[in-house]
Amino acid sequence: MIEFYPQIKHAHIGLALLSGSLFALRGALLLAGARWPGAAPVRYLSYTIDTALLTAAMMLLTILPGALYANGWLAVKVALLVVYVVLGVFALRRGRTTQARAVCYVAALLVFAQMYFIARTHHPFGVFYLLGW
Ligand code: HEM
Repeated sequence: MIEFYPQIKHAHIGLALLSGSLFALRGALLLAGARWPGAAPVRYLSYTIDTALLTAAMMLLTILPGALYANGWLAVKVALLVVYVVLGVFALRRGRTTQARAVCYVAALLVFAQMYFIARTHHPFGVFYLLGW
């Protein structure tokens, strides 16, 4: 399996970008008042992408578990994933007011960006590490 590691990692990165882009699009359209971003086919597409993303993540970990024992970047990324999912649920479904949904939407996008930078830098501080803080 190790020979497929680079391909699986590229799939993981592509799926992560796809997942984040679809969330950004759905959230923006919902906030603009469109109804279809919450429709079943779009939701199922989103579940499919997220399942493939996490499957690729588990494959990477199974092949090379080293990231688990690195400087904590992966643990912080997974913890932020939980925060992102909760914010996403409030942004797309459970937020009571438009304002609450908008705040959760922006916060979810910021958390997603931080997860991306954490992964790219392999550092738990992510974007703050890049900025030299
Ligand atoms: C349970 C969730 C996740 C786990 C266990 C996980 C695990 C991993 C692992 C093991 C790697 C390979 C690291 C390496 O070979 O250096 C990786 C890479 C990566 N992950 Fe995830 N991941 C998860 C979710 C996500 C999410 C939600 C994103 C989107 C923000 C993401 C973005 C990335 C990126 C961009 C890389 C490439 C890092 C590089 O350039 O080396 N991951 N992930």
